[in-house]
Amino acid sequence: MPPGWSLREMVARIGEKNRCDRSRLTAPSRRPFLSFAVHAKMLAGKNDRQGKERRTPMAEQVVLHRGLKGVYLDATRICHIDGEKGILLYRGYSIHDLAQNATFEEVCYLLLYGDLPNRQQLAEFDAALRASRTLPSAVLDIIRSVKDAHPLDVLRTAVSALSAFDPDVKDMTPEANLRKGTRLIAQFPTIVAAHERMRNGLEPVPPREDLNHAANFLWMLKGEEPDADSAKAMDLDFILHAEHSSNASAFAVRVAASTLADLHAAIVAGIAALKGPLHGGAAEAVIEMAEEIGEPERAEAWVKEQLAQGKRIMGFGHRVYKTEDPRARHLRELAKRLGEKFGDPKTFQIMTAIERAMQPLRAKGIYVNVDFYAGCIYHYLGIPADLYIPIFAIGRIPGWVAHALEQYADNLLIRPLLHYVGPMERPFVPIDRRG
Ligand code: COA
Repeated sequence: MPPGWSLREMVARIGEKNRCDRSRLTAPSRRPFLSFAVHAKMLAGKNDRQGKERRTPMAEQVVLHRGLKGVYLDATRICHIDGEKGILLYRGYSIHDLAQNATFEEVCYLLLYGDLPNRQQLAEFDAALRASRTLPSAVLDIIRSVKDAHPLDVLRTAVSALSAFDPDVKDMTPEANLRKGTRLIAQFPTIVAAHERMRNGLEPVPPREDLNHAANFLWMLKGEEPDADSAKAMDLDFILHAEHSSNASAFAVRVAASTLADLHAAIVAGIAALKGPLHGGAAEAVIEMAEEIGEPERAEAWVKEQLAQGKRIMGFGHRVYKTEDPRARHLRELAKRLGEKFGDPKTFQIMTAIERAMQPLRAKGIYVNVDFYAGCIYHYLGIPADLYIPIFAIGRIPGWVAHALEQYADNLLIRPLLHYVGPMERPFVPIDRRG
């Protein structure tokens, strides 16, 4: 990121760049990150310095699906999204039923095993989670040694390190992968909380086996037991983030898994893909935006000004949903409740004012997405903004594990093609004759 640019500014500039280049290029060969001049030369098979190359053969026969938009990669039994109707199902269950009735532990079991657990299955799975929360001391040392990095980078590094200590790391049987997946789900919150404590000069708070997943995370993060509403809010947030089909991070997990890389390697790929502001980074940018706006009355003018400058508004728009993201409904209600509970309704009011100001964009299928109110909830829970992405990862890890397991179960190497549009058969010029 260029020095002095905020996360939100970087994304807004990406939006600007996309708009500018798209206006001059025709689909489907738009290349938003190359200048138009460079791209035109590539397509024409010309080269600045040599000018001798031939056009790529059969260019006309290739249909590009840039960004793999609209491409079905495989069949899945994990998650269904209907982006037109705003439907999201985990293993066939509506996100609304799960949000209202299930716990995160039940949802993890559902994603990993395919069915909701009965009481005994849930008790056994939950016990395995609670027993797996502690980290090897060597991994705590690694976290301490990289504590000044971004929390998501620390999570990625720690998960990579955990593979060296996992007794099943080389065992690729489904049973071993389930054990590893369960351990990783349990270890993610401990990593994030331990890092947060260390970077503030505090000792990590050991996990408590008598608390559920969400309450234990808040306990380890703050060193005090959360009230029931905060713990429930965290639990609901994790449920709503648990899975979302072939999003960029799950796709990265599946690509790595398709090489038969081990589970830790596949999960590290997912964490890496989550980092960007077009995926997990948006919630952090949303709260920056709310802070900059400052007052609900300023939201409309601020949004109009940003849009007039061709910038994107964070927390809006989605590759798949062309109507409201079904998760946003629950997060909006939760944010409202937390705002009232903590006597700080203003942040929520700014958010709703931004949402109102964005209504004209609904005509283009741009609605609020999951990250918009998530940022507001973390703000109310007193969580620093750079922890929002790792918290997304804590919620998403069961989905990633489910995707890796599904990929391993019926594997085919994921290896698409890139259509080459560069110069062909360039005469090699020895280095001392290149001028
Ligand atoms: N604010 C303003 N305009 C937006 C927008 C937003 N948040 N999101 C998309 N648009 C506009 C684009 O500028 C583009 O307009 P144009 O056709 O006039 O150039 C059009 O909508 C399509 O955008 P595009 O980037 O092609 O869609 P996509 O499916 O590739 O993008 C996102 C999906 C998520 C990357 C995009 O909506 C975005 O950048 N959102 C903001 C970041 C965010 O909230 N990410 C979290 C996603 S869960």
